[in-house]
Amino acid sequence: MAVKRPLAAIVLAAGEGTRMRSETPKVLHPLAGRPMLAHLVDALTALSTDEMHIDRVVVVVGHGAERVTTTLQDAISTSTPVDFVEQPVQRGTGDATAVALSAFSQDAGIDEDDVVVLVADVPLLRTETIKELVLLHRESDAAATLLTMHLEDPTGYGRIVRDARGLVARIVEQSDADESELAITEVNPAIYCFKRSLLAPALRRLTATNAQGEYYLTDVIGVLREAGHSVSALTADDHLECMGVNDRVQLSAAERVLRERINTRWMREGVTMVDPSATYIDASVTLEADVRLLPGTILEGDTRVGSGAIIGPNSRLTNTRVGERSVVQSTNARDSEIGPDCTVGPYASLRPGTRLAAGVHVGTYVELKNVEVDEGAKIPHLAYIGDATIGARSNIGAGTITANYDGKMKHQSVIGADVRIGSNTVLRAPVSIGDGAYTAAGSVVTRDVPPGALAKGVPAEIDEGWADRLEEGS
Ligand code: UD1
Ligand code: CA
Repeated sequence: MAVKRPLAAIVLAAGEGTRMRSETPKVLHPLAGRPMLAHLVDALTALSTDEMHIDRVVVVVGHGAERVTTTLQDAISTSTPVDFVEQPVQRGTGDATAVALSAFSQDAGIDEDDVVVLVADVPLLRTETIKELVLLHRESDAAATLLTMHLEDPTGYGRIVRDARGLVARIVEQSDADESELAITEVNPAIYCFKRSLLAPALRRLTATNAQGEYYLTDVIGVLREAGHSVSALTADDHLECMGVNDRVQLSAAERVLRERINTRWMREGVTMVDPSATYIDASVTLEADVRLLPGTILEGDTRVGSGAIIGPNSRLTNTRVGERSVVQSTNARDSEIGPDCTVGPYASLRPGTRLAAGVHVGTYVELKNVEVDEGAKIPHLAYIGDATIGARSNIGAGTITANYDGKMKHQSVIGADVRIGSNTVLRAPVSIGDGAYTAAGSVVTRDVPPGALAKGVPAEIDEGWADRLEEGS
């Protein structure tokens, strides 16, 4: 295998993003459950072919620098080093790029190095497009290669000015453009590849004598051309991909595109979606083949769904595992585990720490929290069970409540296997119900119930040996 030429990426993310009108820095706004900028860093670090691989990513931060840095460090998991450098004053994209270059060692085999430079607010950019850009850059041996796109309405973008031979001569910003330049519909999405050895000196030649008083990275193109270097351009056919997100309307448009991509990918992997436009799957979710998703399903965070499971309609699962063949309808679940062959809902709420073993049934209007439910147990209707364990095959009657909180502390309820809890039982924790025991309807159980006994009344009296007598038919 040939030695790969060094390739780095610089992401410009120091700007404020005022049009978002938000306390949150623009690049941290989530798309499909991940910060906008994390999608872009993913696209960069996913570039890995025989010829090219991004060795390192440098993110230029400024507004909300600390928050952006820590949030992204948490969100991104890649073996590629991602460094954050601060641009203390936002003096333009050219200045930001110069700040980023200061993070590179000055002497490393510079002639061969390429660097991709891009703005931070293009979350839809695909790895494939970055690859094409770098390929063209290297094949054409250009000093710089940029992506361009044609827009019916070019407002706001820098315009691509071509020379008589049709080659890119320079970029002019909207605020500096004359009438004929404003009419140009080929625009700059701000996604470039440069030879690093030529970029640094070109940046040093920039001035801020323009309408915005900023150092424009875009001016580097004209500087390079005037110095006799060549500039290549790749025209993107899908301009959605290069869409910049500047406000919440564009944010929602990007969200739609990203979700469509995620849904399409899962459908190709064997997941059925009755209505993909009403199915919302975070980028971090994993699904097995033959999962069936009904409308109104929202899968978030580290949620994983096993083969043959049916989710929805109207279920929101966050960081939740669902086992094979389970059915989860109209349910909210967070930080929970649902085993195989379970049925959950409609209208169940599984709060953090709920763990259902195989074949458990949780029915309508049931709320569970920090509960471990063993195989084949049933909680069919109207119950609150918190801080408890329920043994195999036990049945919890309608209206059962674990009174787990004494006003100061939470207490545990331990329910054994093959237990029958009668309707409207209150289990005052801490309490334990032995295997095969019963509680009568409406009981308030304040003491432990031995195996096979019956607890009955308020407060419940214990009738030992009840289960055996029941068996004998007396
Ligand atoms: C820039 C381009 C414009 C292009 C447009 C595409 C320049 C001068 N213009 O304009 O040709 O059509 O992007 O979206 O480059 N940033 C910093 N530090 C700064 C200034 C900006 O890190 O000092 C970052 C911002 O966070 C943002 C990006 O650079 O992610 C672009 O900055 P912005 O001011 O939005 O540039 P545009 O005016 O959109
Ligand atoms: Ca601007």
